[in-house]
Amino acid sequence: MNRIIAFGVIGHPIEHSLSPVMHNSVFKHLGLGYEYLKFDVHPKDLGKFIENCKENNFIGLNVTIPHKISVIRFLDKISEEARLINAVNTIKFEDKTAIGFNTDGLGCVRALLEWIEGIKGKRILVLGAGGASRAISFQLAIEGADLLISNRTYDRALTLGNEIREKVGKRVEIVKFSHDEMKNFINDIDVLINATSVGMFPKVDEIPIPEDLLKFLNEDVVVMDIVYNPIETKLLREAKALGFKTVDGVGMLVYQGAESLRIWLDIEAPIDLMRRVVVRELGG
Ligand code: ATR
Repeated sequence: MNRIIAFGVIGHPIEHSLSPVMHNSVFKHLGLGYEYLKFDVHPKDLGKFIENCKENNFIGLNVTIPHKISVIRFLDKISEEARLINAVNTIKFEDKTAIGFNTDGLGCVRALLEWIEGIKGKRILVLGAGGASRAISFQLAIEGADLLISNRTYDRALTLGNEIREKVGKRVEIVKFSHDEMKNFINDIDVLINATSVGMFPKVDEIPIPEDLLKFLNEDVVVMDIVYNPIETKLLREAKALGFKTVDGVGMLVYQGAESLRIWLDIEAPIDLMRRVVVRELGG
């Protein structure tokens, strides 16, 4: 059967993306005759690429580094979340128009909701203030979390916190990225999320907070990492050893993909299958 090429992911570089195997496994499983490809798109060709997708009746794209922000100017509309976060990771083509969405934050929240009941009122410390943290922090604030952000570069956390306060109208606590300061906050948080790249292959021996602080977390805490290579980061390994619940980065990856599928095709994605495929690709 000839498959219809109507989906893909764009980035530069793009060779390591796990999205094609993940989405193609879903299409196959559901008997949908689509194919999802990866496209290495140079920044100078981005506008032309989006135009071509519109002309050629594409249905959906995922967008990754370095295009998540720059693609916005080539779109006809963007969702409320994407506007707040100021980044797009999902595009839907409809009647020759391109609409941008951001499913990263929602993906993180849905992965987390497998382990906690509701986000509202939960005290959540997010480590990092880069692109990933932005998507996650905005979504958590929208959903009513009691949010704290800590980042190596303090001013970046401050800027993100101020922006969330202005746009979402929620107060965010900014915690200095130091042992002594974090120690004051760590014992009463419900969820700790690593939204930095610390611990990612090849620097697998790094951990995003001083290791000895982990023992001050309360026993019901959930520790989540957005890093998925390796699947079990040093942070998750240490947290597990202390008896805490842990959520690995595959969860967010799978759920952001599931949310994209919902936007494109209005389907409930087979989460377990997607997870198995990604874990197998990662050699887990
Ligand atoms: P992404 O889009 O994946 O979030 P990014 O925008 O480059 O990527 O952000 C990376 C995040 O990881 C930042 O919060 C960064 O902290 P700085 O703002 O201080 O750069 C954080 N990060 C990266 N390496 C780190 C390290 N060795 N220790 C602590 N934080 C680190």
